[in-house]
Amino acid sequence: MKIAVVGAGGIGGYFGGRLAAAGHDVWFVARGAHLQALRRDGLRIESPDGDLTVTPVRATDDTREIGPVDVVLLCVKTWQLEPAVEALKPLIGTGVGTGTAVVTLQNGVEAPERVAAAVGREAVLPGIAKIIARVSGPGRIQHVGGLGSLTFGEWDNRVGERARERSGERAGDRVERLREALAGASVTAVVAEDVWTELWAKFLFVVPLGSLGAVADVPFGVLRSRPGTRRLLADGMREIERVARAAGIPLPDGIVASTLDFVDAQPAQGTTSLQRDVLAGLPSELDAWTGSAVRLGARYGIATPVHDVLYEVLRLREEQARREHGTGDLPASGGAGTR
Ligand SMILES: NC(=O)c1ccc[n+]([C@@H]2O[C@H](COP(=O)([O-])OP(=O)(O)OC[C@H]3O[C@@H](n4cnc5c(N)ncnc54)[C@H](OP(=O)(O)O)[C@@H]3O)[C@@H](O)[C@H]2O)c1
Repeated sequence: MKIAVVGAGGIGGYFGGRLAAAGHDVWFVARGAHLQALRRDGLRIESPDGDLTVTPVRATDDTREIGPVDVVLLCVKTWQLEPAVEALKPLIGTGVGTGTAVVTLQNGVEAPERVAAAVGREAVLPGIAKIIARVSGPGRIQHVGGLGSLTFGEWDNRVGERARERSGERAGDRVERLREALAGASVTAVVAEDVWTELWAKFLFVVPLGSLGAVADVPFGVLRSRPGTRRLLADGMREIERVARAAGIPLPDGIVASTLDFVDAQPAQGTTSLQRDVLAGLPSELDAWTGSAVRLGARYGIATPVHDVLYEVLRLREEQARREHGTGDLPASGGAGTR
């Protein structure tokens, strides 16, 4: 399978590295010192599931060098999407259900639509990464924890069937081919029955946890054990549950209770990337997480008072941290915060 990994960071480096080690034709789109190291020394993954060195590595900063591929794993941060999506065009081959699949792996629920605006919904497979991985140095990826799994599906969970009717192929062929490739690369790969439900379930988990953690500047263990912060966590989850239901997403009953159980199972010292980035004055995914919860609440007429407060306070914190660290101004809001 020919695969382009656009954004060879924590998740791109990890999943792309596993696929390359399994013998797939994997191209990494990277830049700067990371690109130089990938070309010179290959890719090194340190993981509790076994370390891995991939060498040589096909890496470039120019997608025209790659040409059409079977699958793109789109692994940049949400605030890096625009130029990355522009760079996708040379990678796209056509044909619904059989053409290039662009798997969006960003946290949040809006990335698939942003990518589809450029490449068409038929190309996009919304996806969810469950892992904790980071770039630990040029050419080096550290798998810190988490399952190391990918969940994905066709846009409307039925595109594969329509493609079969037209082309005589098996339903969901490209989805099944990707699942097989990942499974053969020691990655837990799940074809979602309803990929939007999965995406929103992750959103419901990560956004209240990340936003509250960033405001309070404490790890999961503290947030979940103090009655007040635990109640806010549950209230934030309920807000997202209500927005999801208003958006027609059939989240399972009891999702807030089961997500709180999942929070309880996380390492006590854990924090989200949102918390770490906001407090370090780095560009963050605040707009795609907390901002998006507020924005979508407004769109569907659902009050989101917990996220309204978290978003406004975090914008302020991020602005202050960026001033302190000299890391530039916050980009304009995606429209959240004002009702
Ligand atoms: N890491 C995790 O454990 C994890 C788990 C689940 C979901 N996610 C989600 O996955 C997404 C990616 O997260 P991540 O942690 O993997 O981010 P990351 O480590 O920062 O990786 C993103 C990579 O993309 C590169 N990049 C960005 N734009 C590029 C461009 N135009 N051309 C070439 N390279 C480009 C970045 O390079 P520069 O460093 O030069 O900018 C960086 O190496 C986020 O939405 C995150 O919320 C992450």
